[in-house]
Amino acid sequence: MNMLLAENRISMPTTASADIVAEANHRIANSLTLLVSMVRMQAASVRKNPAPLSNAEVRLLLEGIAARINTIGQLHRLLSHVSSEGATNLRPHLKEVTDALVSALSSPDQLVRVEHSGGDCLVLMRQVQPIILILCEVFINAMKYAHPAGVPLVMTVDCHASGDGRLVLSVSDDGVGLPDGFNPAIHGGLGFRVMRSLAGEIGAELQIQNTDLGLTFRLSLPASSMASAKLS
Ligand SMILES: Nc1ncnc2c1ncn2[C@@H]1O[C@H](COP(=O)(O)OP(=O)(O)OP(=O)(O)O)[C@@H](O)[C@H]1O
Ligand SMILES: [Mg+2]
Repeated sequence: MNMLLAENRISMPTTASADIVAEANHRIANSLTLLVSMVRMQAASVRKNPAPLSNAEVRLLLEGIAARINTIGQLHRLLSHVSSEGATNLRPHLKEVTDALVSALSSPDQLVRVEHSGGDCLVLMRQVQPIILILCEVFINAMKYAHPAGVPLVMTVDCHASGDGRLVLSVSDDGVGLPDGFNPAIHGGLGFRVMRSLAGEIGAELQIQNTDLGLTFRLSLPASSMASAKLS
C-alpha cells in the first residue's frame, strides 16, 4: 500500500508537465479527427463510384490509408522529441516520410525510386503536418496515375529557399502527366481538394502543372513565416 502511494506520488505530474501532456493529447486527438475525416471522405467517394473496385484498387486504397496513418504517427514521434513550437529543418523528415511512403506503396508491379535535392528547409513546426499530408496525397496519386503501364516510377523531391525568401517544395513524377484539358485549379477529386485546403491552412500557394517529364506539385511557403522561425 505504502509502495503504491509512493509510486503515485512519484508519477503525479507537475502543472507544467500536465499542460504538456494535455497539449500532446489535444494534438493527437486533432490528428485522429483529421484521419477519420479523410477516411470518411474516401468512403463517400467509393460510394459514389458506380463501378466496383478491382483488387489492385482496393489494395492501393488500404495502403493509402495505412500510409496516411503512418505519416501522422511519424509526425507525433517527431513531436515527442522536439518542441511543437518554433521551427524545424524539413529535410530529414522529407526523407523519413518518403522512405515510409515507398515501403507502404511500392510493389513488385510498381517500383518506386525517390531522388532528393535541395538544401536545409526551415519550416514552422505547425506547417509540418499539412506539408507531409500533401506529400502523401502526391505520392498516392503518382502511384495511381503516373505510369498506367507499371513502368518503375521515379519521384523527385526538392526543397529550397527561393530568391524572395519563400520556401519552395517541389515534388515531381516522371509519368504521363494530367489528362488533356484537365485544369487542376478547378478540376480534380478529393485529393486535390484536400491538398488545396491543407496548403491554405499554412498560407502556402500550391501549383500543379505538367512538365516535360511528368507532373509537378510546387508548394510555396510565405517568407513572412520563415523570418520569425527559430530552430527548436
Ligand atoms: N501524378 C499524376 N499523374 C497523372 N494524373 C494525375 C496525377 N495525379 C492526379 N492526376 C489526375 O488528377 C485527378 C485528380 O486527382 P485527385 O487526387 O484529386 O483525385 P483522385 O486521386 O482521382 O481521387 P482521390 O484522391 O479522391 O482518391 C486524377 O483523377 C487524375 O486524373
Ligand atoms: Mg488522389
